[in-house]
Amino acid sequence: MTRIGMGIVGAGFVGPHHIDAVRRLGFVDVVALACSSDESGREKAEALGVRKGYGSYQALLDDPDVHVVHNATPNHLHYEVTSAALAKGKHVVSDKPLAMTSAQAKRLVAEAQRAGVVAAVTFNYRGNPLVQQARIAIARGDIGPPHFLHGHYLQDWLLKDTDYSWRLDPEKGGPSSAVADIGTHWCDLAQHVSGLRITHVLGDITTVVKKRRKPTMSREAFQEASGDGELVDIGVEDLASVLVRFDNGARGSFSVGQVCGGHKNDLVLEVCGAKASLRWRQEDQNELWIGHRDRANEVLQKDPSLLDERVRGYARLPGGHQESWADAFLNVMREIYTCVAAGPPYPALSPVVATFEDGFRANRIVDAILESAADGGAWTRV
Ligand SMILES: NC(=O)c1ccc[n+]([C@@H]2O[C@H](COP(=O)([O-])OP(=O)(O)OC[C@H]3O[C@@H](n4cnc5c(N)ncnc54)[C@H](O)[C@@H]3O)[C@@H](O)[C@H]2O)c1
Repeated sequence: MTRIGMGIVGAGFVGPHHIDAVRRLGFVDVVALACSSDESGREKAEALGVRKGYGSYQALLDDPDVHVVHNATPNHLHYEVTSAALAKGKHVVSDKPLAMTSAQAKRLVAEAQRAGVVAAVTFNYRGNPLVQQARIAIARGDIGPPHFLHGHYLQDWLLKDTDYSWRLDPEKGGPSSAVADIGTHWCDLAQHVSGLRITHVLGDITTVVKKRRKPTMSREAFQEASGDGELVDIGVEDLASVLVRFDNGARGSFSVGQVCGGHKNDLVLEVCGAKASLRWRQEDQNELWIGHRDRANEVLQKDPSLLDERVRGYARLPGGHQESWADAFLNVMREIYTCVAAGPPYPALSPVVATFEDGFRANRIVDAILESAADGGAWTRV
């Protein structure tokens, strides 16, 4: 198999996980990374064992050895970097959200189509074996038609007023913080697992921590605060609750927040159908809860021998060997790079991978939630 060259722009919190995942594929070379200065490019490349470290994304895009560009920059750079990569004919793996606004996301869908390359968004929870088991179970009718989808995505890393991230600056993160950052994961997961589409939303959003200490030095996501810096007003939400309606008439609700003590990466999705319910929780990701009316509830352990044969390949380890966030991320990367390796005309991405259209849909859901909240909580069409 021809080896594929990967280059990544942005090597903060999530960037190194992109690198780890593609390294495990075996047929991909991590050729280069790009940071915002020559110095940080050199330092990060050395720290992560990457051959070339560039000080600008343009230099990385000019490198002929880079075939696939991963965009792991803060949201305000997503459109610029992805658009430039597509214009150079590179495949793109964009971290979520696809873009800071729906208008930008829509343009990227068209630009990717014109470029004729592989273009994917990392809604990576799709790659978990038990998420796929739930998707297959619902598609084959195991729980009957879904009528209620609910859950949450709660974190606590922005609980203190000394916690700060570019996500809280609308110039860098966009008009939404919690909803765009983690609410998009919940919505993508709910739609992916159920096969349904969110058509209407009613959002209630709020900013719990209204003033924060903005550090003088930039910090990567989840890094502990030092408490220095000036006090700034925060205008974007850190907590939201949303009612949703799906295209089959199913109802739903979810809450998102980064100010919920004790919740680290607590993503939960439950789908209640006419016959039974299914629940998956990211923090206990090796278990799938199956709820029954007329018999005892069950917990399906992640064990390849117990999974549907279409799902088995996503479990890398035997039962009892816990799989993780990184393994699900790898599953998504494997699907993406399998398409790249197939060569032109590139086959359609597996449903396990979110497309740019899916990314655009996520941006539109965020818009509708913000619009609904601004209207005082009116039902709003996506
Ligand atoms: N899929 C997931 O589960 C997941 C998890 C975390 C973050 N993300 C997404 O990944 C993106 C990055 O988030 P993060 O948490 O890693 O942020 P981060 O702040 O930790 O890292 C961003 C990096 O980009 C670098 N950068 C800034 N400007 C740059 C430029 N002009 N050129 C090159 N690099 C530049 C920063 O120096 C920093 O190292 C965000 O869009 C976020 O939504 C996704």
